[in-house]
Amino acid sequence: MAKILVTGGAGYIGSHTTHALLAQGHDVQVLDDLSKGYAHNVPEGRLNVVNLHDAAGLARLFAAHQFDAVVHFAAFIAVGESVGEPEKYFRNNVGGSLSLLSAMRKANVRRLVFSSTAAVYGTPESTPIPETAPLRPVNPYGESKLMTETTLRWMDQCSGLRSVILRYFNACGAESQWGIGEEHEPETHLIPLVFRAIRTGKPLTIFGQDYPTSDGTCIRDYVHVSDLAAAHLAALDSLMAGGPSRIFNAGAGHGYSVLQVMQAAERVTGKPVPHTFGPRREGDPAELVADSSKLKQTMAWQPRYATLESMVESAWAFDAKRHGTL
Ligand code: UFG
Repeated sequence: MAKILVTGGAGYIGSHTTHALLAQGHDVQVLDDLSKGYAHNVPEGRLNVVNLHDAAGLARLFAAHQFDAVVHFAAFIAVGESVGEPEKYFRNNVGGSLSLLSAMRKANVRRLVFSSTAAVYGTPESTPIPETAPLRPVNPYGESKLMTETTLRWMDQCSGLRSVILRYFNACGAESQWGIGEEHEPETHLIPLVFRAIRTGKPLTIFGQDYPTSDGTCIRDYVHVSDLAAAHLAALDSLMAGGPSRIFNAGAGHGYSVLQVMQAAERVTGKPVPHTFGPRREGDPAELVADSSKLKQTMAWQPRYATLESMVESAWAFDAKRHGTL
């Protein structure tokens, strides 16, 4: 059993990981400023409403608990917004991480699991993408994550901070037993927007139908949020066992097009998805699929949710509960 600080633990992936850590018997405290996350995602008595830029607040938290490790999610995640306000993303995502790392150094906490993204690869030359692919973000969001990755590499070398970096592909789904799921405001992600179209009858806009893919729509690697949570647990175990700093892709390894996601939602819900086709969204690569063999081999990680239907089904159960349509 370890004592863990989860930053951004009131958010989507952070809250699933917090629940999974507690279920494994770890002692968890959550730091979240609730600018994006929700207090109702955090189990009772675990939430500390602190902003990462609040050095005094961080120092108090680290003084009150002797953390063995930190799992760091807290960040802004909207790619489009990051293009409109780059400085906001660098201040929050890079600046916030630097503030956290200073607090960790002062408290002598030397293990970190970091939430990174496939956006560090930008537009890849080929898929599936291995960790060794060129790192060329095409938006400030991806760059802000890469800058934090770079900081972690130097901190490993210069100050002995050990980190596991997980580059997620498209997180989706929900864990019904914990009553939590994907809630973003505003929502920009495909699966919740597919459900919104079903609920409201207002059509989903499919961004582009002229990509060089089998049906002309973008292909993504959808991975269940509980499988991502499991990857964090494995990463933490490796650090607790004295393992080295490492970087892993975390995706299910299968690509599905926007139309295939829509069709899966139609099968799961039994309802048609009202939709229209619009222009491409700026910065969308045609295809992003992970080569996650390193994570599977090194950490014995195996995604439990193997089919798109099972992922969409779990997301639908949460969406229906949230909107009172079950
Ligand atoms: N899409 C639509 N219509 C919509 C919303 C999305 O057609 O209304 C399409 C997108 O164009 C894309 C696919 O659905 O092809 C998935 O889009 P999402 O916005 O759900 O996810 P992204 O692939 O854009 O982004 C995800 C994460 C980011 C991360 C990125 C890494 O949400 O945080 O993967 O590639 F940076």
